[in-house]
Amino acid sequence: MKDKIQNLLEEVTQLVAPKTDEELEALRLKYLSKKGLINQLMADFKSVPAEEKREIGKALNELKDKVASRIEAFKAEMDASKHSEELQNIDLSRTAYPLPLGTRHPLSLVKEQIIDIFSRLGFNVAEGPEIEDDWHVFESLNFPADHPARDMQDTFFISHSPQILLRTHTSSVQTRVMEQTEPPIRIICPGRVYRNEAISARAHCFFHQIEALYVAENVSFADLRQVLMHFAREMFGEETKIRLRPSYFPFTEPSAEMDISCNICGGKGCNLCKGSGWVEILGCGMVDSAVLESCGIDSTKYSGYALGMGLERIANLKYSVSDLRLFSENDLRFLEQFESAR
Ligand code: DAH
Repeated sequence: MKDKIQNLLEEVTQLVAPKTDEELEALRLKYLSKKGLINQLMADFKSVPAEEKREIGKALNELKDKVASRIEAFKAEMDASKHSEELQNIDLSRTAYPLPLGTRHPLSLVKEQIIDIFSRLGFNVAEGPEIEDDWHVFESLNFPADHPARDMQDTFFISHSPQILLRTHTSSVQTRVMEQTEPPIRIICPGRVYRNEAISARAHCFFHQIEALYVAENVSFADLRQVLMHFAREMFGEETKIRLRPSYFPFTEPSAEMDISCNICGGKGCNLCKGSGWVEILGCGMVDSAVLESCGIDSTKYSGYALGMGLERIANLKYSVSDLRLFSENDLRFLEQFESAR
């Protein structure tokens, strides 16, 4: 029995690597299958005298392990060489599979279009922080101490002293730029803003705005009107009419809101414009002299205009998206509809 084991061990050590799957399988059958050599030895083991069982049992186990590991190693070698053969067969000149391209978010599309229109008029993009202080969001912009926007109900506060909050509008970027730049200033500021609102189809606790500011010598309301008209036509088409209504903002005087002729019904009256033929799209005005002065700009020498609009509002008008929540839910069924607008 001992000799048999010894002979088999030598045989196994000298085994030549098989070349095909069939040869490998034949080896496995020969040694390891139910009727294989190892199992035959196991059967013989029963008749080994008790005093030799220990020694022979050990040798038998070693042999079994050896056979199993040899066959395993042959298999691994074969797999590796198959893999490298496959690699050699790769056709490197073949055209790659097309990668699915993502679609651009409707808010990005609108933002880029607005930036494009204003940059052709010489405006540069400026950005500011979303976490702001009271000075940049309210104080410097002439908000009275008891203005409702300063209420916890409208604004997310991070701390009360000092007053740190999430900006409620991008007008804060106006102040940041005016503090640091000598006029002429011509900037456009896109960004996210936050308000303490319950989320619904018509309101959200965050949304996006874009602000424009022009400060130089002799800037007049006529300049503002001209820019507004140009913007409305570039954005919504040549036929678009604009209408300015007097309004109030703490940081502009005079202030106005701009309506455009409804681009859905062409001004005849529909659901979107509630039958009026007009839809409101932005707020604007001449920068209040108190705001210029609070930023260190001489209001006797310089004047300026500012305007601000919500990107969701513009995207709604362009793409008829009436539920604000769609813009932030990342539902692919919604986003994929903007593929052709890429
Ligand atoms: N900041 C205003 C808002 O959030 C929008 C606005 C109105 C911006 C008039 C302006 C402006 O620059 O002149 O509602």
